[in-house]
Amino acid sequence: MTERESLISKAKEYMKNAYTPYSKFNVGAAILTDDGRIFGGCNIENSSYGAAICAERTAAVKAVSEGAKHFKAIAVVCSTGEYAYPCGICRQFVGEFMDKDGMLYLEDKEEGELSIPFFDSIPYFFTGDRIK
Ligand code: THU
Repeated sequence: MTERESLISKAKEYMKNAYTPYSKFNVGAAILTDDGRIFGGCNIENSSYGAAICAERTAAVKAVSEGAKHFKAIAVVCSTGEYAYPCGICRQFVGEFMDKDGMLYLEDKEEGELSIPFFDSIPYFFTGDRIK
């Protein structure tokens, strides 16, 4: 299995754990870190809608809290089978830990795979060196 295939497959596995009684839109994500570990996540909603967390950030907080702060790639899938483009907050949040040449892997049931450099998905990225 390629890196892309194993991350997509892990993202699909975690999508099954999504808690989405409100949107019914399930998302799964998987992050590969530089030490070879893979962290999966799903979206988890809440009756206070704004308290929901996306799949990408679930995976990212799992990785960072386990000491893995250097991401090499992230795969994201969703239950409609279309490309699960990460939301803006997740692009910013995940970008904090992503290698400069890290990858974003997506899949559409008709269009097939999409592999793009992660930072192509977030031009004009806000970095901490702007904080003075
Ligand atoms: N969602 C994600 O998990 N990731 C995204 O990048 C976009 C949105 C979730 C949040 C919510 O549970 C549902 O999708 C609908 O917005």
